[in-house]
Amino acid sequence: MIRIALPDLAATAELGRRLGQLARNGDVILLHGGLGAGKTTLTQAIAVGLELPPEQHVSSPSFALLHEYSGGRLPLFHLDLWRLAGEDDVEAAGLLDYIGGPGLTVIEWPERLGSLRPAARLDVFLEAVSEQERVCSLEGWGERAEELRNALAARQP
Ligand SMILES: Nc1ncnc2c1ncn2[C@@H]1O[C@H](COP(=O)(O)OP(=O)(O)OP(=O)(O)O)[C@@H](O)[C@H]1O
Ligand SMILES: [Mg+2]
Repeated sequence: MIRIALPDLAATAELGRRLGQLARNGDVILLHGGLGAGKTTLTQAIAVGLELPPEQHVSSPSFALLHEYSGGRLPLFHLDLWRLAGEDDVEAAGLLDYIGGPGLTVIEWPERLGSLRPAARLDVFLEAVSEQERVCSLEGWGERAEELRNALAARQP
């Protein structure tokens, strides 16, 4: 597990931008962390790294479960499973088709996936330390996710 200090919003923005730049077709990123930890904020920065047009503003998809953004280097599928009870709901909502498909998949509240959690994934844990400060921990599962994790860690001082 690699830890990255995010002392302010700019640091989170930089991490997300790098992640968006490094992302490849089929990558899956699970964003763990409590309410207000910064999952949507990080996703917005990932969209910047993917060069999504600014009019495709990434918002919190809590009411939509899934937002799809196109026009960037890769399509972005942003899922927020907060409102779902568990894996049966995930399946019933037809969300499985979107996970790990073409483009980059980013999932908030991935705990809801239960046993449907993909084996190959980058786990990102966000934790609030203070109002401005976050700590990010990264764990890569599978060769590709490990490569991503190492590339992100390499830039840390
Ligand atoms: N270093 C930081 N990194 C990320 N967000 C920060 C940071 N400092 C302050 N914030 C603020 O914390 C809030 C994070 O909210 P955000 O919606 O991204 O959280 P979330 O994890 O998606 O929550 P939810 O579970 O409700 O979807 C934002 O208002 C953001 O501006
Ligand atoms: Mg959110």
